[in-house]
Amino acid sequence: MGYAIAEAALARGHEVILISGPVALAAPVAAHTIHVISAAEMYAAVEGQISKKVDAGIFCAAVADYRPLTIADQKIKKSGESRMELVLEKTADILGCARDEMAFTGTLVGFAAETNNLEKHARHKLTTKKCDLIIANHVGTSETGFDVDENELHLFYPDGHSKKLPCQTKALLGEKVIEIIEKLGDAGA
Ligand code: C5P
Repeated sequence: MGYAIAEAALARGHEVILISGPVALAAPVAAHTIHVISAAEMYAAVEGQISKKVDAGIFCAAVADYRPLTIADQKIKKSGESRMELVLEKTADILGCARDEMAFTGTLVGFAAETNNLEKHARHKLTTKKCDLIIANHVGTSETGFDVDENELHLFYPDGHSKKLPCQTKALLGEKVIEIIEKLGDAGA
C-alpha cells in the first residue's frame, strides 16, 4: 500500500521520500528511497527526514511493536528443555512520536490494520497518535490487506466523520488517498 501511495504522489507531482523496510517490490525510481531493516532504523530515518519542509507524513509501514530484548552474538545451542522463552521489549512508536518528540506540524496520516473492532481501535489511534486521518483496513481475510493487490479502506477523521473506499486495486486506492491528503493539507494551510 505504501508503494502504491508513493507512486500516486509522484504521479501528481509531489516530491516523495520513501522510507521502506524489506519488501519484494521495486522502489519508484523518482522517489528518494531510504531502505531500513529494523524499527530503530526506521525511527532514525523518519526523525532525520521529517521536518518543516515535509507537508505530509504518511505512516503505512507495519512496524514491529516488539523486538527481542537481547540479541545473541553466537548460535543459541539447544538445551534439554522442550520450551524456551524469548523476552521482548517494546519498540518506539514512530507515528506516536511524530507530533511531540519530532515536532512535526504537517498533515499526519496513520494506518491501522485490524482483525476486530476496526472503528474502535482506529479511533483510539487517531487520538493517541495525534493524527489528522487514520486509514484502517481489516486483515486476516485473504482477499484484502497484506500481500494482495486489492484493499478496502476505512477513513476516520478527528471531527468524528468517516468514509469508506470500497475494495479496489491498491494503485487506485493510492490515487484516492493522495487526493484526500492534498485536500486535508489545503484545509490546514
Ligand atoms: O498501534 P499500531 O501499531 O496498531 O498503529 C499502527 C500505526 O502506527 C501505523 O501507522 C504504523 O505505521 C505506526 N507504527 C509506528 N511505529 C511502531 C508501530 C506502529 O509508526 N513501532
